Amino acid sequence: MKALVATQKPFAAKAVEGIKAIFKAAGIETVMLEKYVSEAELIESVADVDALIVRSDKVTKAVLDAAKNLKIVVRAGAGYDNLDLEACTAHNVVAMNTPGQNANAVAELAMAFMIYMSRNRFTPGTGSEISGKRLGLQAFGNVARLVGAKAAALGMKVMAYDPFVKPEDMEAAGVEVAESLEQLYGSSDFVSLHIPATPQTVGSVGASLVSLMPKGACLVNTARKEVIDEASLLALLSSGREDLKYIADVAPDAAADFEQALGKRYFATPKKMGAETAEANVNAGLAAANQIVAYLKDGCERFRLNR
Ligand code: 3PG
Repeated sequence: MKALVATQKPFAAKAVEGIKAIFKAAGIETVMLEKYVSEAELIESVADVDALIVRSDKVTKAVLDAAKNLKIVVRAGAGYDNLDLEACTAHNVVAMNTPGQNANAVAELAMAFMIYMSRNRFTPGTGSEISGKRLGLQAFGNVARLVGAKAAALGMKVMAYDPFVKPEDMEAAGVEVAESLEQLYGSSDFVSLHIPATPQTVGSVGASLVSLMPKGACLVNTARKEVIDEASLLALLSSGREDLKYIADVAPDAAADFEQALGKRYFATPKKMGAETAEANVNAGLAAANQIVAYLKDGCERFRLNR
């Protein structure tokens, strides 16, 4: 059997070693496709593999059509908007993710982002502290829970909104429960986004919510660029609310316009970098390999996303 690791953004070397060792012990050959640039390269490489590990790499119908032996694809990470789940099901391919495995890395970056913006992006001048400030978490999954705990430890007051999590579970985690998104935005000096990109969330964060934020507030996005309504956010932050800030770990499509109009009040990393730590790569990469072995050997379907 063969497993392909296809990563446009490669894993740390230690993660690759670990993945290879897990597959070798299970009698599976590992094939690597790193830093590829076109879908055609992925299509060529999946032709004879039984299993596939990806990060944000797009697993489209065309890829699945070409993967005649494919039985399982694991997205080493949390968000699976890059997998065509319907096509996976139609091709009898099991799709999984590895929830929580890279969450700490993303949470640490969200914390760093808040401090970076509070200190004027490390340029001269008087900044502010995050201690005592109010943090609003939009959604309360694995990353948000870690951000909440870290923020509380640094003296922030944490509130969360998540219609899919029981209020008592949020309270048990020590965060105040927001009744609505409007309340969350209206009472947060920082809002940190932790929603997935779904048809319901794409383009859902824009001027109508962000305009509710108090003076000097900052929107922090380590989720997906697609959840932002870029046009309305840019319009709001460039005229009317020149006090607000935006920081993201993936550049908006209109990055140049944001940069030009907002100056120091905007920053985005050129590539999505929340999960870019050796630890996160090892956690998510090895989990993906173990899930593949468990499925191929024992039919274990834990973390299956499609039915
Ligand atoms: C995720 O959904 O797990 C994160 O966004 C990380 O994505 P990446 O593996 O492409 O860095």
